Amino acid sequence: MEFLDKIFPSQIKIAPRPNYSPENYQKLAEFEKFNYDPNIHLPEYVINLKFETLYMKDIDLNKDEGYLKFRNFLKPGLAFTAPFKAFSEEGVKVLREIVEISKSIPQVNFHTKRQPWNIRGLGYMSDFIRDLNECQKLAKLASLFAGTNLSPFTYFNYSHINIGVPGSGKKVDQWHLDSVGFVIVTVLSDCENMKGGDLQVLKRDRDWSAIDLLNSQSDDYTPEEIFTVKYPGPGFAVFMQGSHIFHHVTSVKEATEPRISLIQSFMVSNCFEEDSTKFSTFKGGDPEHVSYTEFARLYAWRSKEMLDELINRTDYDEANKEERKNDGSRGKQKALKIFKMAIDELTNAYSLLNGEKDDTIGYIDDKTNQITGYDNIKIES
Ligand SMILES: [Fe+2]
Repeated sequence: MEFLDKIFPSQIKIAPRPNYSPENYQKLAEFEKFNYDPNIHLPEYVINLKFETLYMKDIDLNKDEGYLKFRNFLKPGLAFTAPFKAFSEEGVKVLREIVEISKSIPQVNFHTKRQPWNIRGLGYMSDFIRDLNECQKLAKLASLFAGTNLSPFTYFNYSHINIGVPGSGKKVDQWHLDSVGFVIVTVLSDCENMKGGDLQVLKRDRDWSAIDLLNSQSDDYTPEEIFTVKYPGPGFAVFMQGSHIFHHVTSVKEATEPRISLIQSFMVSNCFEEDSTKFSTFKGGDPEHVSYTEFARLYAWRSKEMLDELINRTDYDEANKEERKNDGSRGKQKALKIFKMAIDELTNAYSLLNGEKDDTIGYIDDKTNQITGYDNIKIES
């Protein structure tokens, strides 16, 4: 048995697939020639590499007692890793071909104020992209980094791609927190002689004093505050808890080709763990007929998982025996607690989906230095 399978003996959970593709995102014949095989498209090693890692506790500068209590409760673990090889040469080759084909499909190309050029929605159109994002090996690797089981995050996010055009003068991505818990960010292009196009991470937790730091300075940050990812080459990736740490990608000043990065998104598998999903980000950026359905499914799945736990648990009888013995009500309390969590999950989902509630986390607009929400405003490429 391979190392990762020993640590994660059971299959990583994958949210039930929709049995349809939304309008404009049907399977595309041009992608049919690509078949995903982890033995070909992932590197040979499983995980014997020694990873350089940084933990949230080490970058935590906020010593406020109340905050530390909160932090201790969350135990968010790993912040980000140093670059590691995530895809084989063949994996990089196929992914780059998919990117090239995608550039000519208008409905997957998006140009927004935050990201001048991104490609989304390929999970519906390409089996390769779907299978890659649902790959057990990759999900287990991500789970190992995170210290908790992770599942792939919603179809439209499968293999989000950012493209940075050299000399455009635009940041590839503005300072932001991710609206999904964890990401693997892989570079697919040749960065050897690239100037700019740096993925930079602010070494602070999302305690919002970081915003002041980012707003108070222009381009030159002190090295202690910023970690610049140095990708050794195409196919290398970092894993990061992007929902906790601000990051951005600087503009590509010079490069032999456009910078291409690929983002695999993951959420916690356990419905009882803190979830970093921010629906408003997707509501504000993705086609409406896609985002509402995807998130309705996601919240429904999480609530169902909670109720399944209640239905399938076997220790209630044990608790009930104790209850009888101690004249307590532990079984009842456990059941009520789960019911309450499922109700809260559904209430939250209902409020978000019908627009009563907004969970926007926003990004920092480099023109105004202000936190900006996602407003569906697209810009010209
Ligand atoms: Fe991000």
